[in-house]
Amino acid sequence: MSTHVYYVPSTNIMGKGCLKEIGPYIQELKLKKALVVTDKFLVKSGIAGKLLAVLDEAGIQYALYDEVKPNPTCKNVHDGAAFLNSQGCDYLISIGGGSPQDTAKAIGIIATNGGHIKDYEGVHKSKNKSLPIVAVNTTAGTSAEVTINYVITDEERKVKMVMVDKNSIATISVNDPELMIDKPAALTAATGMDALTHAIEALVTPGAYPVTDATALAAVELIFANLARTVKNGHDIEAREQMVYAIFLGGMAFNNAGLGYVHAMAHQLGGVYDLPHGVCNAMLLPYVEEENAKHVPEKFRKIAKAIGLQVEVKSDQECADFVIESIKALSKEVGIPSKLSELGVEEVDLDLLAENSMKDACAPGNPFIPTKEEVIALFRKIL
Ligand SMILES: [Fe+2]
Repeated sequence: MSTHVYYVPSTNIMGKGCLKEIGPYIQELKLKKALVVTDKFLVKSGIAGKLLAVLDEAGIQYALYDEVKPNPTCKNVHDGAAFLNSQGCDYLISIGGGSPQDTAKAIGIIATNGGHIKDYEGVHKSKNKSLPIVAVNTTAGTSAEVTINYVITDEERKVKMVMVDKNSIATISVNDPELMIDKPAALTAATGMDALTHAIEALVTPGAYPVTDATALAAVELIFANLARTVKNGHDIEAREQMVYAIFLGGMAFNNAGLGYVHAMAHQLGGVYDLPHGVCNAMLLPYVEEENAKHVPEKFRKIAKAIGLQVEVKSDQECADFVIESIKALSKEVGIPSKLSELGVEEVDLDLLAENSMKDACAPGNPFIPTKEEVIALFRKIL
């Protein structure tokens, strides 16, 4: 028996058109001026403008920081923190996918704790709560708007620093599917498969407990029912809205249960070859879970049931096979490539990729700890 602490933003606003309704919730915070954190693409595409129009309408003061890079750097964080101070801002509103969300968390931590962002690499390193953050998500899958982790690239050491910090969680999360309708199909597929990976890894990890299982299983069910629809037609707002609920449910699960070897291995592929996170996860997921099913078969019965199998009359092996085949079929349907060699990954790199996977922060969360040879064998299955 062990005890658990469950982290979630204190207010979560979601559903079609909800962006237009956030003004009063921000005003309730009784703060002076926001630093809006985003990137140039979101400004150019008009998505950030939709938020700014809502803020203008509600008479909410803000300054705009749109310098966030796709993989946000220490410079991004400290430039943003200096700008926040010079503008007299006392909270943050982030809009975007993982990069603006992570940058806002880092700026918020620096603003209340001081020092350099490198000081906070690791687990719960800050002493004080971040400035309040209103996190507006525009990407269907990362869940950065509800989680306690963020990743900042140290451009000098060329490493991605992972910070797990309860003080960095947003005060308000916003998930409006209307902000996601123009996302390209490939991005929708990759982020949706990332969300599926979050839910499945959160289910099979030893860190799971009934509260996290409930939301993770609901996420699995919704993703299987809706992801392909959103990839085929980005403007299918009903399916997009169901995916928003799935991301939120899956995000709550992995934020509190943890992840496993799919993420541990995908992080290395992302770091070395700059491959999309969701694509790497999607490719690895069936093979890592094939091994995991041998260790936690009861979890695969639950997942199989959530996807729609009549598990009462099936063996453990039949349930596991059904889950693995269903993941592969969904990946194929949404256009995820099946071989890493199509993406430039080479056999000679596998040794180092495996070694670094074993050191990844997500590795201890897996149901079993593979040997280096077993990790190499897993990479080889998708080479
Ligand atoms: Fe992920």
